[in-house]
Amino acid sequence: MTEVISTERLALRPWEDSDVDFVFDLYSRWVVQRFIGTQPAVMDSRTQAIERVQRFKDLDHPVHGIWAITRKEDSQPVGTLLLKPIPASGEEPLQPSNDVEIGWHLHPDHWGNGYASEAATAVLEHAFAAGLEHVVAVTNPANEASQSVCRRIGMEHQGQSEKYYNDKCELFLVKNPAATS
Ligand SMILES: CC(C)(COP(=O)(O)OP(=O)(O)OC[C@H]1O[C@@H](n2cnc3c(N)ncnc32)[C@H](O)[C@@H]1OP(=O)(O)O)[C@@H](O)C(=O)NCCC(=O)NCCS
Repeated sequence: MTEVISTERLALRPWEDSDVDFVFDLYSRWVVQRFIGTQPAVMDSRTQAIERVQRFKDLDHPVHGIWAITRKEDSQPVGTLLLKPIPASGEEPLQPSNDVEIGWHLHPDHWGNGYASEAATAVLEHAFAAGLEHVVAVTNPANEASQSVCRRIGMEHQGQSEKYYNDKCELFLVKNPAATS
């Protein structure tokens, strides 16, 4: 069960069927999709949005989750925050590695407010409270906005890596501050 995570301005909650229109609006935009995946493509049908919301809801795990980031002041969804096993490079279909990644997809109407960083900071706290030793993030080398989020939330750049997604990515990592080694 994806638990609700609360921050000063945001509530991260499970996805609901009523979020389909927002999900379609978010993922049908090239500015959102252009750096996501090895072959970026925009969502082009509402049916895909229905399937995406279902996939988000299907991740049922005590620690991992895919949250709807919503603004507390008006309950408006503003984006997606993910914490899930990252696929290792290898033969398709890619299999999850032992590492857990954090990721964010914000609607462009809500960029520039610090929402991605605020939501991600809270999810890292949740991950570390649950005992994860470290969390990684990968970005397209050209995705400077996402790399800035990584740095803002205390992740360290590890250089480029081809360990994940059968792709060359900028790799970021943050260790659990409570870990002894
Ligand atoms: C990556 C992405 C989430 C970054 O969004 P963002 O809004 O720039 O990120 P943050 O939440 O960290 O906000 C930081 C910005 O808000 C500003 N800001 C305003 N109020 C703020 C506050 N209270 N706290 C922190 N930052 C604040 C910062 O100055 C900064 O603006 P700047 O970039 O002009 O300097 C967004 O570009 C996105 O969703 N892109 C498409 C999807 C994508 O590529 N995802 C990543 C795949 S790896």
